[in-house]
Amino acid sequence: MLRREDNERVTRTGPGTPLGQLMRAYWQPVALVSEMPDERPVKAIRIMSEDLVLFRRDDGPGVAGEEPADRPVADRTGRPEGPAGTGAWGLVGRYCAHRGVDLSFGRRESGGLRCLYHGWLYGPDGRCLEQPAEPEHSSFAAKVRIPSYPCVERNGIVFAYLGTGDPPPFPAYDCFTAPEEYTFAFKGLWECNWLQGVEGGIDPSHVSFLHRFVGEDPREVYGQQFSEEVEGTGRKLSELVGASFRPDIEVESAGHGLRVFALRELTEDVRHVRITNLVFPNAFVVPFGNGKVFCQWHVPIDDESHYWFMILYDFEEVTDKETLLAQRLAEVSLPDYRPLRNRSNNWGFDPEEQRELTYTGMGLDINVHDQWAVESMGPVQDRTVERLGISDRAVTANRRLLLKAIASFESGHPVPGLPLDAQEAEELTGPLAIDTITPVDGWEEAWRHRESERRARSPWARREVRDAQR
Ligand code: FES
Ligand SMILES: [Fe+2]
Repeated sequence: MLRREDNERVTRTGPGTPLGQLMRAYWQPVALVSEMPDERPVKAIRIMSEDLVLFRRDDGPGVAGEEPADRPVADRTGRPEGPAGTGAWGLVGRYCAHRGVDLSFGRRESGGLRCLYHGWLYGPDGRCLEQPAEPEHSSFAAKVRIPSYPCVERNGIVFAYLGTGDPPPFPAYDCFTAPEEYTFAFKGLWECNWLQGVEGGIDPSHVSFLHRFVGEDPREVYGQQFSEEVEGTGRKLSELVGASFRPDIEVESAGHGLRVFALRELTEDVRHVRITNLVFPNAFVVPFGNGKVFCQWHVPIDDESHYWFMILYDFEEVTDKETLLAQRLAEVSLPDYRPLRNRSNNWGFDPEEQRELTYTGMGLDINVHDQWAVESMGPVQDRTVERLGISDRAVTANRRLLLKAIASFESGHPVPGLPLDAQEAEELTGPLAIDTITPVDGWEEAWRHRESERRARSPWARREVRDAQR
């Protein structure tokens, strides 16, 4: 349970809010590369209540027949090309400084965006470069600038830095260091505050209920990692966690945020160990079946809706992106990536299915179950009236961490998961996320051994991953 003012503090991310400033200090996903149309890669983006336009820079000719403008295209740090990858994308304020026209309809010209109304041209650094209707010798353009933010593309996602000063280096997390062919990126719209999404991802006890099957557990469905057989048991994970619904939950602090252990006794000798992570402030890293892991960010659009962005990575096999993309696109409507099951149709709730097949009665896609759980709370959960128990330990630990970090950040102190230099970035590795069966005795050595075996088999993963910092 939170005090009203603390619930506001951990949910509000608009410009100038304490949490908004903290979140802007981290690189945040703003778009999938695959959602940017090839023929005109320009898209309106709303993030943390700011309206922006993302565009792929076109350094070719301007207006038909004109020579390309001979001017350096600087990013916001003033370097001509900026850190690796920042050159390809521009992210600027959505409304023209002249008279407020929507630049997401603008013309991609000369490496920038040109407003349709009177032809003002903006570079990716937000500077106004041309005002063709003004007198020829006017210097007015030099005085005009719209907001702009540096962007970097990583494994199918465009990340932006909306903070002040120079952007931080990227941590060396597996999701960023995996070669793109071993990854898959996607996103989805959830119509509720971002923190509800994150709290769902780090809550280990819900999986025994929300994702359970009451009938025969169907395989071959995307998102059914709980339908996979757990090595060495001959049983599916959904059965195991459904039957063992009172896990021991342990939380420890880590350089990236929190590491969460969910320990389930399956028999006298056998334990199920599931390790998930909070990647501060708004992501989590969880195992997905036997060989895969994903990192999922929950990025506010505003305080009452958000996008989750995911990078799935496979330690051993290249991903079949085309199939995965087609499967996910079948579940959403474009261009918003709004799930077909949503509040407007009761998330497809079917009482018969609830009786016969699934715990939720909302289909087989676990992502929909999670979406329903957090959307059903309302746009911003009223945390002043909830009743948390022992099994909510990870949720409670995260809130404490978040409140503490907001205060630290306000007073200029370090915060988790935000590297200050390249060396600190190199030390932010993993995080370790695994779902495995171990003997009850020696379970800690056993899961670590499994993890190092998996890394040893992987053609790309780092062998050594730093331990959590307690
Ligand atoms: S409103 Fe954009 S150029 Fe006039
Ligand atoms: Fe879930």
